[in-house]
Amino acid sequence: MTLEEGGNDASRDDPPTIIDAEFIEEEDRGLPSIDTVKEVKTTRVSSPLELPRSQPTPEGRARIVTIINQKGGVGKTTSVINIAAQMALRGHRVLVVDADSQGNCATGLGVDKSKVRTTTRDLILNPECAIDSRHATAVEGVHMIVGDRTLVGLEQEMLRQLGRERRLTEALAPLLPHYDIVIIDTPPSLGLVSINALVASDGVVIPVQTEYFALEGLAMLAGTIREVRGLLNPRLGVDGVMLTMHAPTVLNQQVANEVKDAFPELLIEPPIRRNIKLAEAPSHGIPIHLHDPTSKGGQDYQKVASVLESRWGLR
Ligand SMILES: Nc1ncnc2c1ncn2[C@@H]1O[C@H](COP(=O)(O)OP(=O)(O)O)[C@@H](O)[C@H]1O
Ligand SMILES: [Mg+2]
Repeated sequence: MTLEEGGNDASRDDPPTIIDAEFIEEEDRGLPSIDTVKEVKTTRVSSPLELPRSQPTPEGRARIVTIINQKGGVGKTTSVINIAAQMALRGHRVLVVDADSQGNCATGLGVDKSKVRTTTRDLILNPECAIDSRHATAVEGVHMIVGDRTLVGLEQEMLRQLGRERRLTEALAPLLPHYDIVIIDTPPSLGLVSINALVASDGVVIPVQTEYFALEGLAMLAGTIREVRGLLNPRLGVDGVMLTMHAPTVLNQQVANEVKDAFPELLIEPPIRRNIKLAEAPSHGIPIHLHDPTSKGGQDYQKVASVLESRWGLR
């Protein structure tokens, strides 16, 4: 896969949704120079978004965590790959489940998709194949279940199935005693596959890109999380909100502050800085700690992983 393909995200076609967000209008004072820009227009949530905090993992089994944001291109897959790798580096047994049809986790973890016979689609349709659907990756201690194009159309097929929201929960159950952490990558939508991931999960990590429209859609995601918690999975809570592709601009800093205001207790620091090394690494089939551990991206993912490691009760 080329870098261009990796960055080309179908979800950019998603219709924009604004819920609970108000547009902050400012007076137009002409064209200020960059030094004089104090504040720029952003979308802002009117009050802190209510998100349930997560609970500790039950004894003797892996914690299941879904990385989710229905917006595409916000750094979900990059975070799954690098957080998984960091956890393995710290001695934890990790399983990555790629529930996105783009299948970029396999590329980023050095798995050749053309050689894979059993994928996340098979896992969801035939939970009994769970044990055999795992693959080794370029990172010792990280196993994965590969997502690929066969996930397209799966939601339609699942509509006919009984217990359709719990397929992934069932499928993962026999694997849980063998891992410390299971990390699920999700597609840029809140469809049935993402709901399956939430129903299976103990915790959720929400990557937010510190750009214009960052908070847009988060109220909808918060609503979905609360709904799944109320109806299908009372364990579900939020482990953290992380900032991605952060750059030292007025806009980025302002959005970062607004995310902090919206999720005062859930924010994970530091933000992951925008860093070309993070975008390059998947083309070599390796995470950042093998590509360039001292890069800004490498350092930031290390720090974020430390925060998550303690929130997940892994140290
Ligand atoms: N911190 C970063 N700095 C630079 N590029 C990044 C960073 N995080 C992700 N990218 C790149 O941005 C694109 C989208 O990231 P990705 O993780 O695939 O997002 P998502 O899974 O949410 O669609 C990819 O090309 C990825 O390599
Ligand atoms: Mg992705």
